Parts: sequence; C-alpha cells; structure tokens
Amino acid sequence: MCKKMLRCLPHNIVTIISLLLFLNCISLWSKPQTSTGSEHTKRATLEAVEKTGRLEMANQKLFVEKLNKALENEYAAVVQYVQHAAVITGAQYDAIAKELVVHANEELDHAVKISELINDFDGVPTINVEKREISNDGKKMLEQDLAGEQVAIDGYKELVKIANELGEFGAAQVLEGILAKEEEHKRDLLGALGH
Ligand SMILES: [Fe+2]
Ligand SMILES: [Fe+2]
Repeated sequence: MCKKMLRCLPHNIVTIISLLLFLNCISLWSKPQTSTGSEHTKRATLEAVEKTGRLEMANQKLFVEKLNKALENEYAAVVQYVQHAAVITGAQYDAIAKELVVHANEELDHAVKISELINDFDGVPTINVEKREISNDGKKMLEQDLAGEQVAIDGYKELVKIANELGEFGAAQVLEGILAKEEEHKRDLLGALGH
C-alpha cells in the first residue's frame, strides 16, 4: 500500500461511516412511515369490507321485506281466485271460471316458493294477507283479478332486478319463473275480458 493511499484511508473511513450513519437514519425515518401507511391501508380495507357487509345486509333485509310483500299478495290472490271462480256466473265466463281455479293453484305454488326464498334469506315468511276484492259482477271480478296480476308483475320485475344485483342468480331464476306465470295469468284475463 502506497503512502498516499495510507494518508487517504482515515478520510475514506470517515466518509464510509458517515454514509452508513446517513443510510441508517433514512432507514429509521422511513420504517415507521411505511408501517403507518400499511396500517392505514389495512384499516381502510377493513372499513370498506365492513361497509360492503352492512350494505349487503341492508339490501338483503330490503329484499326479504319485498318478498314478504309479494307473499301477502300471493295469499290474497289464492283467496280471491277461489272465491271468484266459485261465484262468477254467465255462459261467457265458463271457460275463465275453470281457469281461475288453475290460477288459484298456481298462486299457492308461488306462495310456497316465495316462503322458501324468504326462509333461505334468513327472513320469516309472513302470514299477513293483502286486501282481497270481491264483486257481484263477473266483469268487475276479472278486472279486480287483472289489477292484482299487474301489481304482481311489477313487484316480481323489481324482485328479479334486486336478486340479480345481490348476485343471487338462483333466486332470480325462481322469481323469473313466477313472473312468467303472472304474465300468463294477465293474458288469460285480458282474453276473457275481450281485450
Ligand atoms: Fe302469483
Ligand atoms: Fe297470478
């Protein structure tokens, strides 16, 4: 080792030590920053997950409430169709009178399916029955039934949409099947009313 190098050595060592100290300071300074950032991200993620969970629970609760409303309508439809089928008179209503009995049975099937869905979504199926309509006039009875079918169609369209938004595609499929039946009922009634 030459003398010149030996002279330089202390100076180099001081420079290296200074550099190491500097790097260590940076490391110490940056570590808590990273940790705080990481904790912040973790907390934000947890909050987002909790918020999503709360939203999903709220949406599911709303879904069950609307299913229960549909169930009340189905019970009412069963009662109304049974009564109308028995009392509607007139030769022009013979065919539709038989069809009303078919409707009554199909509404009962819907009520069973909706009750099962409500139970699947941790709800309690209602035993409340929506308002039923009666009349002494055959045409008026069919109009009452038609109005009920329209309420059902609108309600099931909304329920299918909600089920799809919740990602509950199995439930959406069941509801679509019921919706198709309600549309068929509507067509039967329109036909009987001469539309
Ligand atoms: Fe129905
Ligand atoms: Fe119906």
